[in-house]
Formats: sequence, C-alpha cells, structure tokens
Amino acid sequence: MTLYRILYCSRSELADSPAAGAEEIRQILAKSRANNARDDITGGLFFSNQCFAQVLEGPAEKVEETFERIQCDMRHRDVTVLEAGPIATRDFPAWSMAFTGSTDASAFGQAVLSAAFSGQTQAGDKLLDILRSVVVREDEWLANEAA
Ligand SMILES: Cc1cc2nc3c(=O)[nH]c(=O)nc-3n(C[C@H](O)[C@H](O)[C@H](O)COP(=O)(O)O)c2cc1C
Repeated sequence: MTLYRILYCSRSELADSPAAGAEEIRQILAKSRANNARDDITGGLFFSNQCFAQVLEGPAEKVEETFERIQCDMRHRDVTVLEAGPIATRDFPAWSMAFTGSTDASAFGQAVLSAAFSGQTQAGDKLLDILRSVVVREDEWLANEAA
C-alpha cells in the first residue's frame, strides 16, 4: 500500500459567534474522527484566526476521496494545496485527527498561513512543523495525565 499525504490551508467560513463556531469545529472533528478511523486516515487539523491547515495521511485512494469531500465543504473556502505526494511513514500514527485551536502559536500560525496563501514555498514545511509540535505536546500531556 502506498502511503500518501496532503497538506492544505483554507479560510474558514464558520459561524461568527464563538460558541456557534466552536460547535461547528466539534462537528467537523467528530465526523472526521469517525470517517478517518474507518478509512485508515490519520492527521492533524490546525485552526487559527479564521484559517485552517490540515494534514491527511493514509492510503492514496482514501486520502484523495476524503480531500474531494473536504474541498466541497462550505465551512471553508480558498482551499490551497501546499503539498501532496507519497510519504515513507506517518507523522500522526495515533491520531484519526489531532486538533489544535491554537492560542500560544496563533501569531506564528497566522504568519505562516499568510505566507502559505501567498504562495511561499517554505510555508508547507513550517505548517507541518506546527502540526507535529502540537501532537507531541498532546502526547506528553496524555502521558502526564496517565502517570
Ligand atoms: C476544515 C475541515 C476539515 C475536515 N476534515 C475532515 C476529515 O479529516 N475527514 C472527513 O471525513 N471529513 C472531514 N471534513 C468534513 C467533510 O468536509 C465532509 O463534511 C464529511 O467528510 C462528510 O462525511 P459523510 O459523507 O460521512 O457525511 C472536514 C471539513 C472541514 C471544513
């Protein structure tokens, strides 16, 4: 099986009120986690200042199918692919969809996202770093809670 990865960013069209927006995020995550577990897809979703960045990894065909659905979703727009191609190993093996609605990284995340939308080539790598660091922190937190 070929492992495949897509990284994209987009501008959110979530409801204006924070409570309604949070509820939409909850629904996106619940649906994503159920579908992705079924499809052997893992990844991370980053939400910061009206923008999303998401990485999807898994069997090529499933990743493509999922991304087709995501692209048609009216809860965001300007879906911009930053990277797509085969990978050797997963970065998020344990996460059907890790999530961060970043507060501490939001200024940095926002800067990286503007770079991504304006077509700067390094932006994809930086976004992947952000997503990976988030998951490491979440793993550490879970390990501490379990200890
Ligand atoms: C930012 C964003 C990220 C999403 N990520 C996923 C995802 O990882 N997996 C998924 O199945 N759906 C994801 N969705 C939801 C899809 O767009 C779509 O609503 C869903 O896959 C439909 O699933 P269903 O056909 O089972 O109802 C995402 C939507 C948004 C707006």
